[in-house]
Amino acid sequence: MVVVQDSARIQAGVDFLSGSTEGLSPNQSLLPLSAEVNGKGELEVGGCSVVDLVHRYGSPLYILDEATLRAASQQYREFLAQYYPGPTQVIYASKAWSCLAVCAIVASEGIGLDVVSGGELYTGLQAGVDPAQIYFHGNNKSLDELDYALQAGVTVIADNWLELKYLAALAKRNSEGTGTPPRVMLRITPGIECHTHEYIRTGHLDSKFGFDPNQIPEVFQFAQQNPQIQWVGLHAHIGSQIFELRPHEDLTGVIVDWLVTAQAAGLPMTELNVGGGLGIRYTESDDPPSIEDWCRVIGNGIAAACQARSLPLPKLLCEPGRSLVGTACVTAYRVGSKKVVPDLRTYISVDGGMSDNPRPITYQSQYRAVIANRMQEAATETVTVAGKHCESGDIVLKDAQLPPTEPEDILVVMDTGAYNYSMASNYNRLSRPAAVLVNHGEANLILERETYADLVRQDRLPERLRSPFTTP
Ligand SMILES: Cc1ncc(COP(=O)(O)O)c(C=O)c1O
Repeated sequence: MVVVQDSARIQAGVDFLSGSTEGLSPNQSLLPLSAEVNGKGELEVGGCSVVDLVHRYGSPLYILDEATLRAASQQYREFLAQYYPGPTQVIYASKAWSCLAVCAIVASEGIGLDVVSGGELYTGLQAGVDPAQIYFHGNNKSLDELDYALQAGVTVIADNWLELKYLAALAKRNSEGTGTPPRVMLRITPGIECHTHEYIRTGHLDSKFGFDPNQIPEVFQFAQQNPQIQWVGLHAHIGSQIFELRPHEDLTGVIVDWLVTAQAAGLPMTELNVGGGLGIRYTESDDPPSIEDWCRVIGNGIAAACQARSLPLPKLLCEPGRSLVGTACVTAYRVGSKKVVPDLRTYISVDGGMSDNPRPITYQSQYRAVIANRMQEAATETVTVAGKHCESGDIVLKDAQLPPTEPEDILVVMDTGAYNYSMASNYNRLSRPAAVLVNHGEANLILERETYADLVRQDRLPERLRSPFTTP
């Protein structure tokens, strides 16, 4: 019989840990789907004891559960195909976590890749992702990055007029050689603005991304005048960590209307990309829709909007990030010092913080944690878990419910797969953590821990600044 701490006594986690995974969408779970408590009362992920993993690989440590990432990938692929009668393609927004192993896993599940920089593109190509399945985003791609993308044969999602000019020039150069016409989609700002729990629709949206919808006639005219480019379709994305389905439903009508306009302007576009944005559960009170519900709203919505406008079904693409990888990872830290401020607060510090997870200090994001080596102990203390950085705001969790802890205990923060490693920094010259992939009791290192030598690798010390104490 598995006993879970109060802090983990949350609907999804307890349902799973007590054996009921019925109807559980990966993005609705707090713990990775393979999480268990072993006979020693330790948290296991992917069949590996988190305590053993930390002893072997050190801390902080990102622990990525392959089963959860694959389950989320499969659910997106299967449900989008189930609810949309035309062709579909799911692409992973690799900004959530870009590294070779994550790119390779999603690609092996038939998921394409959304990249937003030359570096993310390079990572995807190095991971062996088929260039035909890669889509290049970003609001300020350089000429060099666009050239790299076209040479690699990936689809570019044009975001602004400068990019259109660059793309037209590059495509002209290519068409004079042997190059095939580049595939380009157009990103348009949808006028649907989402926060987690609310949204508004406006004609003019204050966003740095995409073309203003009022410029659609000029943009389509430009496209028509540049037939050296294959104008394959349209893209829109409304936001991230969204719990409502209604704004996504609204988007389906908006984007299909644009497609009608494009076709009327003589552009035979056949692809629509509705972006990502489905939220995940970080705390008990978060209540995101399931991947299936999201795919149903999107698939049915686009199909119905096309039918109402007598439009043949385009290929439907979506690009989730957080809801694919977010739940799949936990971060393990070692507990260190403790400070009690009488009648106010007890701080316990861990050996990482805002450098491996900048979301709390950046967005005041909330997380839940457990103590991996005390999974069967009651959560009787309320503590604030502090990072080790020189910032008062470097707080990993406020008012966490945990069992009494000792130095060297292993604190595990859940749901750290998205926008943690990918936003990590070396602030205070902390080295970035290692990451380990776990599955069926096997652990594979997928990111080496940075060393002190790595931290100064790019540093250069001019000769005149050397001292007698400088390392040769
Ligand atoms: C264009 C685009 N597509 C997809 C995503 C992925 O969003 P999420 O991780 O919320 O699914 C983002 C992230 O904000 C984005 O900007």
